[in-house]
Amino acid sequence: MALVTLKHVLNRACKEGYAVGAFNFFTLENLIGLAKGAKAKNSPVIAMASVGAMKIMGEKTVVGACQGVADDFGIDMVLHLDHATDYDVIRRCVDNGFTSVMIDASSKSYQENVDITARVVEYASRYGVSVEAELGHVGGKEDDISVDEREALFTVPEDAVRFVRDTGIDALAVAVGTVHGFYKSEPKLDFPRIAKIHELLPEMPLVLHGGTGVPDDDFRKAIQLGMRKINVGTELKVHGVFDVSREAYDTEPSHDPRKVASKVIDACAKIVEEKIDVMGCAGKA
Ligand code: 13P
Repeated sequence: MALVTLKHVLNRACKEGYAVGAFNFFTLENLIGLAKGAKAKNSPVIAMASVGAMKIMGEKTVVGACQGVADDFGIDMVLHLDHATDYDVIRRCVDNGFTSVMIDASSKSYQENVDITARVVEYASRYGVSVEAELGHVGGKEDDISVDEREALFTVPEDAVRFVRDTGIDALAVAVGTVHGFYKSEPKLDFPRIAKIHELLPEMPLVLHGGTGVPDDDFRKAIQLGMRKINVGTELKVHGVFDVSREAYDTEPSHDPRKVASKVIDACAKIVEEKIDVMGCAGKA
C-alpha cells in the first residue's frame, strides 16, 4: 500500500460529509499505533509530523517509516508536515516524499501569508503534493490572551474566500475557537462562523486544529457544518505515549522495552479508533 495525498482522501470526505482524523506522531510506536487503529476501523488516516518531531527523527527516517508502516499494515496513509513556517523545510519534505504539507504563515499579514502560501503551492503542485494553509490564527493555550483578543484572530469568512482564490490551496485551517493543547475550560466553538465559511467555500475542505479536549458532540456538529480534517496531537503525546510509557517503565519487571512499545502502540491505536468513530470515517479506507 502507499502514501497518498491529502487531496485524495479529503475529496471523498467532502462528497460524503465526514472528517478524516489527522494524528501527530512523535515516536515509531506512536506511528504504528495510528496505523493499527486505522486498520482496525478500515479508515483513511493522516499521519502528521511536526517540524520539531522531524528534527529529532530526520525527514528520510520519517518518510521511510511511514512507507514501511503503510505496507506492513496494508493501508493507504497520508504523510503530512504539520505547521511548517519555513519554505526550505517544506521544500525538503516535498523532495523527500511527503504527500502533504502545511504552510503556517497565519501570524503574518494577509499579504505575506498569501505570498508564501502561493509559493509553496507552486512548488508542491509540481510534485503532486497537497498543501494546507491557515487563515486567522489558532493559538496555543500557552498564549495568555483574553477571549476578546482570541476572537479577533478568528477567520473572517470573506477573507477566506479571497485567500483560497489567491493561493490555490487544497485545505484551509480555520480559527473558530479551538486552541492547541489541553483546555483550561471547555472550548467554545463558533459554529455560525464554520457554517458561513463552508457556505461561501462549499468545495474547500476545512481543517480544525486543536482537537484534544473538544467534546465529541462539538466534533459531530463541526463536521456536519463542513469540517473535513480534524487534528489531534496532545492527547496522543501525553496520554498515548508519555503516561503509558512512564507507567510501563515503572512497573515492567522484565526491563524489556518491547513490552513498553506494545503498550504505547495499543494506547495510541485505542485513541485513534475512538476518534475515527466520532469523525465518521470508519469503513471509508
Ligand atoms: P492538539 O494538540 O490540541 O490536539 O492540536 C493538534 C493540532 O492541531 C496539530 O496541528
